[in-house]
Amino acid sequence: MAGSLLHSFATSFSSCSSSSSSRLLLSHSPPSLFLTSFRRSAAVAAPGVRFSRVLSSSSSSSSSSRSPLCYRRGQRRLMAHSIARATLGLTQPNAVDVPKIAFAAKEINAVEWKGDLLAVGVTEKDMAKDESSKFGNSLLKKLDSQLGGLLSEASSEEDFTGKAGQSMVLRLPGLSSKRIGLIGLGQSSSTTFAFRGFGEAFAAAAKSTQANSAAVTLATTDSISNDSKLSTASAIASGTVLGLYEDTRYKSEGKKPVLKSVDFIGLGSGAEIEKKLKYAEDVSTAVIFGKELVNSPANVLTPAVLAEEASKIASTYSDVFTATILDAKKCEELKMGSYLGVAAASANPPHFIHLCYKPSSGPVKTKLALVGKGLTFDSGGYNIKTGAGCSIELMKFDMGGSAAVLGAAKAIGQVKPPGVEVHFIVAACENMISGTGMRPGDVVTASNGKTIEVNNTDAEGRLTLADALVYACNQGVEKIIDLATLTGACVVALGPSIAEASGEKLWRMPLEESYWDNMKSGVADMVNTGGRQGGAITAALFLKQFVDEKVQWMHIDMAGPVWNDKKRAATGFGIGTLVEWVLLNSSS
Ligand code: BES
Ligand code: MN
Ligand code: ZN
Repeated sequence: MAGSLLHSFATSFSSCSSSSSSRLLLSHSPPSLFLTSFRRSAAVAAPGVRFSRVLSSSSSSSSSSRSPLCYRRGQRRLMAHSIARATLGLTQPNAVDVPKIAFAAKEINAVEWKGDLLAVGVTEKDMAKDESSKFGNSLLKKLDSQLGGLLSEASSEEDFTGKAGQSMVLRLPGLSSKRIGLIGLGQSSSTTFAFRGFGEAFAAAAKSTQANSAAVTLATTDSISNDSKLSTASAIASGTVLGLYEDTRYKSEGKKPVLKSVDFIGLGSGAEIEKKLKYAEDVSTAVIFGKELVNSPANVLTPAVLAEEASKIASTYSDVFTATILDAKKCEELKMGSYLGVAAASANPPHFIHLCYKPSSGPVKTKLALVGKGLTFDSGGYNIKTGAGCSIELMKFDMGGSAAVLGAAKAIGQVKPPGVEVHFIVAACENMISGTGMRPGDVVTASNGKTIEVNNTDAEGRLTLADALVYACNQGVEKIIDLATLTGACVVALGPSIAEASGEKLWRMPLEESYWDNMKSGVADMVNTGGRQGGAITAALFLKQFVDEKVQWMHIDMAGPVWNDKKRAATGFGIGTLVEWVLLNSSS
């Protein structure tokens, strides 16, 4: 075992937040694939749980926490893995503020709007012109006549037809807005996904023209229902926030976005839409937080730092959150042998993270748990990741599930839904190689007493999730969703772009029981890997061994969508869907 390197102590949140920790200054989608498996049966409810606040002392991370195994007394030289404990590479992320944009919903005449950039969302149908090159759409007609026909002329010359992804920005006299932009929405039927893309294109236009103030409207708004107007505005707002954001914390020079205000025109006004825009902003801020967790390199974002970030959420929203961080010793007491086996090779000790959300007033009707895989780095262990395409250098993203869970926690702390209790659980650790680590063939024992022959140390995520799922069930929850960058097999199986839910793409896979045959062990209750075929399914079957029969459970393999290869950055996948799911289960 890596040993209990941190001292647990009971404390209040203020002392936790004042620790030396704010190294990771987290300010503030999405492609592809995943697997979902679902199981249900009768619901159970347990009496309310209150947690003792066992918070780790992050400020003890220097000399007092050095393992005697890693430090040679009387010698200056530290062994490699003890150097890794502090700030390997001396990297300190820059503090970058979350770009704060003031959103407002107005019912005014778009033609009269004053500011830097007026962006109009147009479908291909809106762009239709008559024989004399005049727009049929009334807003475009009005704008065009103010501009003496230059809008229709320029759109023809630039071959702008309103296809999704197309945009055109003009600087012309004659309007009260400094610039006018046309942004393509594609065919007439537009989804949340399309409007988020539109928001991103709008953000790109605002960025490239250095706009301080901007307005968005759609060429056709009268045919949209009130409900659709709300979801359209919120999808555009999310796209705008996320499109403007660039993670520059690890660059020596960062750029500052200048966009300060965005007015929504023609999508309604008043309390309802303002609330919806606030929600979009809260979720987007949480998505950025999640992206920053995933983008952070493993030398900075260790399990201890991840736990600190979780504790910070609890201290920020202390009216509704409590945090429990368990160190290795406490996990040993809870018999989490499967999780601790994975953590055993690392000089960065494991931290088991548990945040509990309870509304500050009113009865709790449903109890939920969100469990995230939190491997701050996955080397593969003795079954080391080798060869082209193994992506070992990207394995900092192997805590993407935990980023989704903690991102959702942050948003839930903002939104504060009534009637629902939510447990956010992450068994954070690092899968490394050393003399103290797990060997292929070792047998580990999980906290529900089941034994596992580790036939592959690279199938570590499911070993950590096993104990996390047992712990989640012990909270007396009715439903659990776990998210994990679990298998390369899932990436191979699904490829990009599948179906849609809350703007994120999900595809249900079968939980084929007959495949369990491949998971039989000669020496233990099961092995941890069952060969190449159906790898995402056997992984899900493995997890099922650790979920109470009475609990509804869904597993999401997010190995594909966690990362955007083209942008070389995290996507923030899962957060929007999780928050939506919690709200659906709340009484709001
Ligand atoms: N973290 C990986 C899964 C992964 C691989 C995510 C590539 C994203 C991209 C996981 O821990 C792993 O190594 N899984 C193995 C399982 C195998 C040994 C059964 C895999 O998929 O190769
Ligand atoms: Mn692995
Ligand atoms: Zn992994």
